[in-house]
Amino acid sequence: MNSVQHPTPHSQILANQGSAAAESYNAQTRSNRNKSHETFGYHSRKLNNWIKSLLIHLNGKGGGNVLDLACGNGGDVAKWSGVGVGGFVGVDVADKRLEEALRRVESFRNLRFKSYKFFMVDLGSESLSGSISQLSKTLPPKNTPHPTLPSTPWSLTPSNFKLTQKFTTVSCQLALHYMMQSSTRARNCFKTISENLEIGGKFILTTMDSRFVVERLMSLGGDLLDGKDRIINIGSENLCTIRVPGETVKRIFNVDEPLTRENWYGLKYNFELLDTLSPREVSVHLDEWLIPIELASCVMEEYGLVLEERLNFMEFFEKHKEEGGDKVRANCWTFFRRTNAL
Ligand SMILES: C[S@@+](CC[C@H](N)C(=O)[O-])C[C@H]1O[C@@H](n2cnc3c(N)ncnc32)[C@H](O)[C@@H]1O
Repeated sequence: MNSVQHPTPHSQILANQGSAAAESYNAQTRSNRNKSHETFGYHSRKLNNWIKSLLIHLNGKGGGNVLDLACGNGGDVAKWSGVGVGGFVGVDVADKRLEEALRRVESFRNLRFKSYKFFMVDLGSESLSGSISQLSKTLPPKNTPHPTLPSTPWSLTPSNFKLTQKFTTVSCQLALHYMMQSSTRARNCFKTISENLEIGGKFILTTMDSRFVVERLMSLGGDLLDGKDRIINIGSENLCTIRVPGETVKRIFNVDEPLTRENWYGLKYNFELLDTLSPREVSVHLDEWLIPIELASCVMEEYGLVLEERLNFMEFFEKHKEEGGDKVRANCWTFFRRTNAL
């Protein structure tokens, strides 16, 4: 039986702000996901995967090594291996996801990594140079003729992890919005990115487009300073819902106290994505925090990170649609049509 031991008492994990995401993502394993190809979640994952594949291809080819922040269940491992990356380090706050990621890497036949490691870290409050927990598998003795792979235990143990080299690429896919609750958490995360990236290296990310949320809020009309929550429904069947608390709306639109590089943190919204309508199956239901890129990039410049390009999914699709192939293109069109993005 596989097991994961927590070096940190559970209550301590709950006390930290990465815990809501950890709990939610630990509950969502691949095995309990609806596998039907007709679900909205399926199309949305396909779109995300195509965007990420291309992003990784454009930025990762040429080898080097990658630090995958909030790597989840290792959904991008094959993509990184495919572009010839030699070293892979995956970090996430959710131990069950890391376990899936490690299992995935170890069962991958064509893996081209020369080395890989996984660590359990709350990127909002911990650093990678501290005493963090490493997920590893106790390998069977060398002379075991047929290693019983599925039954060997996994363990999370505190390690004195010290990165001996920096990374050519740091990636944070569909996750940076979980670290933006406060200046302290955001800056901790930016510091980690910067500290582990080599000079000239690339940081690539995908997150919610804050311009899209602002535009949709404006199109709802009414008095945006009335303190009332707003609901943005995406797709004719409300397959995706963004609930924006009145406080967040007020902070975005209050011209008397505009958002600045010092105060933009904590712009909370709730993101809900349905997998299927009937029966109603929720794929994601979590609080996230908006990242106004213009302001965030000013702060990131303090950490030596300079914004080179910013595209939303539609713009990225338009720019690269010829590179995706017919099947992938058709899938993206399906998604955009169902979300009324076209
Ligand atoms: C939508 S998933 C994305 C996973 C992966 N990057 C991908 O694209 O397939 C978001 C991931 O962020 C992780 N996460 C959320 N908050 C985090 C935090 N504070 N520190 C580290 N990981 C976090 C979650 O556990 C989850 O695995």
